[in-house]
Amino acid sequence: EKGGWSSFMAKEISEEPDAIANTLLGRVHDGTVSLSELDPLGADTLAGIERIIVIACGTAAYAGMLGAYAIEKWARVPVDVQLSHEFRYREPVIGDRTLVVSISQSGETMDTLMAVKYAREAGARTLSICNTQGATIPRESDAVLYTHAGPEVAVASTKAFVAQVTALYLLGLQLASIRGSLSPELIAEQVAELAAVPAKLSEVLQSGETISQLARWMADTRSVLFLGRHVGYPVALEGALKLKELAYIHAEGFAAGELKHGPIALIEPGQIVFVVVPSPRDPLSLHPKVVSNIQEIRARGARVIAIAEEGDAAVLPYADEVIRIPLAAPLFEPLLSVVPLHIFGMELAAAKGLDVDQPRNLAKSVTVE
Ligand code: M6R
Repeated sequence: EKGGWSSFMAKEISEEPDAIANTLLGRVHDGTVSLSELDPLGADTLAGIERIIVIACGTAAYAGMLGAYAIEKWARVPVDVQLSHEFRYREPVIGDRTLVVSISQSGETMDTLMAVKYAREAGARTLSICNTQGATIPRESDAVLYTHAGPEVAVASTKAFVAQVTALYLLGLQLASIRGSLSPELIAEQVAELAAVPAKLSEVLQSGETISQLARWMADTRSVLFLGRHVGYPVALEGALKLKELAYIHAEGFAAGELKHGPIALIEPGQIVFVVVPSPRDPLSLHPKVVSNIQEIRARGARVIAIAEEGDAAVLPYADEVIRIPLAAPLFEPLLSVVPLHIFGMELAAAKGLDVDQPRNLAKSVTVE
């Protein structure tokens, strides 16, 4: 039940901090990760995995992209993310040292199910990350790591997304521990970062009113662009998908580095661009690069809405609006910066008088290929 909320989506966004906390529950202790759910795969098998392929569709695929950054960095295993419906048609190179990780909130997405069956037949180990107990995809997989987001009713996926990212990060840390690629101290540091996310996210939810106001101002907008770099890139893709599916607005997400390879030609006066800004403390030093992207688009008349860390003053001269997120290590920032975009998509749809929970032409789970 909606329990006083205007829509299931509003309720589910409010549950994003709990979705993360509940997915961590019982799986982290004293700075370590223990995922007994991976036992059916065997520690030796996991230690010998040479490649991971993540398969998913839509929002789940963007969660997969975020997981890929973390798993590669921590466990030093190459990770590819492929859309389920593209995967088997490319005749992927798969062997018994390949781990295929499927991600599906419903566990019933036909494209993902067919991809899992294909992977199994080709000899891969299969792990399902799923939010629905006993669904078909987990039953067809060697092992399952459930996300504990609780039932998600709204067609647009929100709390399941952050729970999927959490599960993938746990997987990355568990693999790093099995393979010895991260010291126990570094694992403990990441566990602490992860455990701190729910409280920070509750703070982000407080900025909901500013975002609704923005959405009301933009109710007539015909096109919105989203830019992000590194882990901000999947966040940009997710922000764009939400606007398409909920508000029926043409929206595109770009990797900020691609701007000058084409998309900057789209910028004309008044074009709204959301920019996911990395932390100025980011050891990869991406912050000045993204700020310079903001200057480039601003000089061409874009209206910039920056999602930036608290205290980041460098964005102020160039942004029309700044949405603040609390400080976090780079890999954990997406779990905070994505939520304002979830709220924005919902509020813009509401401002247009659309059905937020049940957008046109869409089903909650896509059970046909
Ligand atoms: O149930 P699944 O996670 O397999 O669903 C995958 C996509 O259909 C789903 O994430 C879709 O993109 C959402 N409507 C996006 O909000």
